[in-house]
Amino acid sequence: MAGKRNDNVAVIGAQWGDEGKGKIVDLLCDRFDVVARYQGGHNAGHTVRFWEKHYSLKLIPSGILHADKLCLLGNGMVIDPEALLEEIESLRSLGVKIDTNLKVSDSAHCILPYHKALDLAREEAAGAAKIGPTRRGIGPAYETKVSRYGIRIADLLDPDVLREKIEFACAEKNPVLQTVYGKTPFDARKLYDDYTRYGEVLAKRIINGPVLINGLIREGKRVMFEGAQGTLLDVDHGTYPFVTSSNTVVGGICTGLGVAPKHIDQVVGVAKAYTTRVGGGAFPTELHDATGDHLRKRGNEYGTVTGRPRRTGWLDLAVLRTAVMLNGIDAIALTKLDVLDDCEEIPVCTSYNVHGERWTTFPAFAVAHHDYKPEYKTRKGWKQPTVGITEFAKLPQTAKDYIRYIEDEIGCTITIISTGPRREETIQR
Ligand code: GDP
Ligand code: IMO
Ligand code: MG
Repeated sequence: MAGKRNDNVAVIGAQWGDEGKGKIVDLLCDRFDVVARYQGGHNAGHTVRFWEKHYSLKLIPSGILHADKLCLLGNGMVIDPEALLEEIESLRSLGVKIDTNLKVSDSAHCILPYHKALDLAREEAAGAAKIGPTRRGIGPAYETKVSRYGIRIADLLDPDVLREKIEFACAEKNPVLQTVYGKTPFDARKLYDDYTRYGEVLAKRIINGPVLINGLIREGKRVMFEGAQGTLLDVDHGTYPFVTSSNTVVGGICTGLGVAPKHIDQVVGVAKAYTTRVGGGAFPTELHDATGDHLRKRGNEYGTVTGRPRRTGWLDLAVLRTAVMLNGIDAIALTKLDVLDDCEEIPVCTSYNVHGERWTTFPAFAVAHHDYKPEYKTRKGWKQPTVGITEFAKLPQTAKDYIRYIEDEIGCTITIISTGPRREETIQR
């Protein structure tokens, strides 16, 4: 039987990542049978908290914390098998059940140590134009994929193919690492031994992802698609070149899992009540003052993966409108409202002045050339605690006004409001 409409939901970051996707996926999880990642790798860091428990998910979908959900790492991901095995062990040590509930698509690509080394070496050599990657080898691994010389998860199970591909890769990457960047080369034999071993351990999880997920959808099972990073980090639509190397937007689901668009029934965009960004690149509403420091401290804005302080700034409605447009967002989950509790005033970027023209979506090309000016409207703060509030009616009037103002400006309803990091600190409307 075909799944009913509104069965399958995508949860996608509407800004530059770290919007709180992990919390929202965890919150909505009960209604789903399957949680699938479609892009990215362990550059993601999704935090889930309930009561005093704290989990940090990188490669594994946040759904794994619910023992009855099937979790899938889709073909559009780049997977460091060592990082995956470490994450499995670390979650198990926290009491999380991981057995037949975790599957890996056979056509996902592998990250190898030379990818990581290249990511790092390029970053060191980049000077002022640093992208500030998470140094996990994500960009170089996607590069190899697109060049058609990548090593796929299925190759880990075929010793002859694996040996040949690793030898070919080392013959090409080692000279670049040595002569261009002055780095140590990799021993193909050692990589072969390590990756053969990873293949043996992962073998039972490796499946044909599209066949699995489409079969489940046909059976009427409900799927949640868990996005990583955010819309403005999309390789095509984000603030290029300061982006990640995958399609983070909704379209990435179709290619990254082999799921047709008609099976994506609803899209939830996750946005903070302000904005943050880690790494380099345009951030027009960034604050470089004590207010920015306050948001960082109060919001605990330090990267889950790298521990780097996140850059902080005001909400940008042009960013949100762009995310609504690119992803067909049906509803917004607004997180971290509580972080604004102490603010006297809350400026919001409503549009951009680009050569005298008013732009209401994000002017990616203009931002790259610095010829834009954000235009603000200042809202009143509520100066009262909202932490842990679970009913919309109990929010201060000014906070309600802030939420309704955002809805009106972006043309999308806010159905979830998060008032703290924990699962239970949430308003659902
Ligand atoms: P993700 O990458 O989108 O999953 O987001 P991260 O987990 O990297 O970053 C979001 C951070 O904000 C995490 O530390 C969450 O625990 C925390 N968080 C999520 N929602 C809220 C909220 O409503 N209020 C506060 N204060 N923290 C939140
Ligand atoms: P989640 O899923 C925030 C940023 C990096 C860097 C750029 C490229 O937790 O929201 P990469 O290592 O992907 O080549 O880095 O993208 N970045 C993220 N920023 N949240 C993330 O993931 C990110 N993943 C990558 O900081 O600027
Ligand atoms: Mg994160």
